[in-house]
Amino acid sequence: MTPVTELPLQRERAKTIFEKGASGRRAFICPEWDVPRVDAQELLPERFRRAEPPRLPEVSEPEIVRHYIGLSKRNFDLDSGFYPLGSCTMKHNPRLHERVAALPGHARLHPLQDPERAQGALELMWNLQQALAEISGLPHVSLQPSAGSHGELAGVLLTRAYHEARGEQRHKVLTPDTSHGTNPATVTMAGLEVVKVATNPEGGVDLDDLRAKADGETACLMLTNPNTLGLFDQNIKEIAAIVHGVGATLYYDGANLNAVMGLSRPGDMGFDIVHFNLHKSFTQPHGGGGPGSGPIAVSERIAPFLPRPLVIRREEGNFDLDFDREQSIGRLRGFQGNYGCFVRSYAYICSLGGDGLKDASEVAVLNANYLLARLKEHGVSEYLPLAYGDLCLHEFVLSGGPMKKTLQIKTLDLAKRLLDFGFHPPTVYFPLLVEEALMIEPTETETKETLDAFADAIAAILREAAMDGPEVAQNAPYTTPVRRLDEVAAAKHPVIRQVLA
Ligand SMILES: Cc1ncc(COP(=O)(O)O)c(C=O)c1O
Repeated sequence: MTPVTELPLQRERAKTIFEKGASGRRAFICPEWDVPRVDAQELLPERFRRAEPPRLPEVSEPEIVRHYIGLSKRNFDLDSGFYPLGSCTMKHNPRLHERVAALPGHARLHPLQDPERAQGALELMWNLQQALAEISGLPHVSLQPSAGSHGELAGVLLTRAYHEARGEQRHKVLTPDTSHGTNPATVTMAGLEVVKVATNPEGGVDLDDLRAKADGETACLMLTNPNTLGLFDQNIKEIAAIVHGVGATLYYDGANLNAVMGLSRPGDMGFDIVHFNLHKSFTQPHGGGGPGSGPIAVSERIAPFLPRPLVIRREEGNFDLDFDREQSIGRLRGFQGNYGCFVRSYAYICSLGGDGLKDASEVAVLNANYLLARLKEHGVSEYLPLAYGDLCLHEFVLSGGPMKKTLQIKTLDLAKRLLDFGFHPPTVYFPLLVEEALMIEPTETETKETLDAFADAIAAILREAAMDGPEVAQNAPYTTPVRRLDEVAAAKHPVIRQVLA
């Protein structure tokens, strides 16, 4: 039998856009030339000029459409199925938000528009700032950062500016060993030193280790609460007292805000700075590397250092951009941020209201605990026990250690086999302190039937490995456009550009 990969249709589908079409083929007809002809090469500085024009694909419109529709069908996305990627809050993105973001007043607004003529957009941004301030319990907001990690960078730079303004040079930033990889990466990028804090047996911050490491050189503690184990740290008041006691600030990684909206506020817990991931809790779709949005909210003492310009409402009631901020850390990016993200997230906040946001968080927590209970009912805990605690908030982390020992299948094998059952795998091998970690975040937008089917699939994969041996899972997936990839080689030797003959 001809192997599937050699069928002509498969071969055609595997082609890149550069391998399709024919010389001179076009998807459009240009209008007649009605402006003076200028040689573009002459407008460019010498160093940017090429001897040959770049080779671009030459394809008809149907070819383009088929190419990209074909690619989209080869991917797994939130609109095709359940996507319980822990720590990522892959919840449904309501279509209403796309409609409002596409309104010409939003979509066609030029970023250099005079603020006087962009009052509607500035009002929306100001209202979003007010809403985020209320949700976080911290009064001053900047919408500029373009991702959660960019918000983290802003937060660490703000902390440094705050200490420097007091004449202090503090170089250490404490991060728990459950923290997301972007936390230590951000600290290093900002030129400060990462100091790890241990986790206690309950899955929270080890207070003794924190006391031992917090000192006069500590700039800040970065914390997620609930943390990446899906657990709320009950000692948060004590943690805040220890950190503030040595004169350091407290940074809240708001990536897990979906568990606590309207229920608890970082400002009330004692945090000084928080970032939000609008592409998680506030339904802005996760882009493939962007655009995202990671606004920050801060307390009074940090406010003077916020990035500039800030969107403000003047006493007369009009909205403006405030550049007049002497102690600001400056700009973090061009223009004011990813405006389309603001429109979508503001639409989400307005359509749900305060009570609706609280409901969303409560259902997110309920769904995660329901799924956890269903898995326990299936007897899954023997192979995949809960890493810490009995219950969880919006997500939970299982350990695949016993599964690996008794069934010889790794968490990666289970994740790949789930694709054959029509589910996107959960996050794997994170947080690092859990052996063979499997981190599951179902979100509030999934139905009971989906959660049941997912629990059934995990149980079925374990049964299959117990009865038929580990090979089925070890060689999965079988039903996806590409089979098991060599992820180590892909990470170590990435081929990221097309080499043309
Ligand atoms: C806990 C946590 N912190 C920070 C981040 C970084 O956010 P972003 O991906 O928007 O840079 C993430 C992203 O996955 C996260 O899960």
